[in-house]
Amino acid sequence: MNPRVRVSLSASFFALAAIGCRGQTSKETPIFGIRNMYDQPKYLVQEESAFFADHRTMRPLVDGVVARDEELDLRIAQGRLEDQTGYVLEIPKEVVARMGGMDPMLARGKARYGIYCQPCHDATGAGQGLVKKRAVASGATAFVPPTFHQDRLRHAPDGQIFATITNGKSNMPPYGNQIPISDRWAIVAYVRALQIAQPKEGAQ
Ligand code: HEC
Repeated sequence: MNPRVRVSLSASFFALAAIGCRGQTSKETPIFGIRNMYDQPKYLVQEESAFFADHRTMRPLVDGVVARDEELDLRIAQGRLEDQTGYVLEIPKEVVARMGGMDPMLARGKARYGIYCQPCHDATGAGQGLVKKRAVASGATAFVPPTFHQDRLRHAPDGQIFATITNGKSNMPPYGNQIPISDRWAIVAYVRALQIAQPKEGAQ
């Protein structure tokens, strides 16, 4: 065949093929001239590494790395004194300022207390919440949320109440991951308000 005819035939074949493809989905991998983005060498999570001595692909954090929004002040983050010798006696002033003063803080604490604490500790902090009542009704005698109006808890440092909310205590679950730091302090403020509002246990 005349080479020129051959060229024009194959050109029209490609043209037809191109038209035939229009509007149809294809399961074939698209043709790429440069496949670098597809074939890039990379590690997948949990994959074994030939490069690192410990064979772990996922690298541990470098010492001293902190999350962008992590609270570094121990007094605020844990309710503990900076030298780790004990609990802070009072709610850190920075937190009160951050929440716009004590009034909004108490309002916030009241609302959060109603959500997170009241089911067990009841609205007054006497430890007679619905969960406690149902636990007793079902024979679970070991489940005893204490009254906040006993001397020991009246005199406990604010930081200790904060730590109890954060870490929990025996049957009480920890709330460190669930309630943000400022809200935990707001709840502490509200627990203090409840203690002031109620007569001392046994003094009635
Ligand atoms: C699921 C029920 C439950 C919830 C919810 C709960 N608590 Fe408790 N809480 C308990 C129990 C039970 C104890 C007694 C723990 C023990 O045996 O010492 C307790 C103990 C405490 C104590 C006394 C700790 C001590 O030093 O003896 C404080 C303070 C306290 N809770 C505060 C709170 C606050 C504030 C909240 C809300 C953020 C809360 N709790 C939510 C069940 C609960």
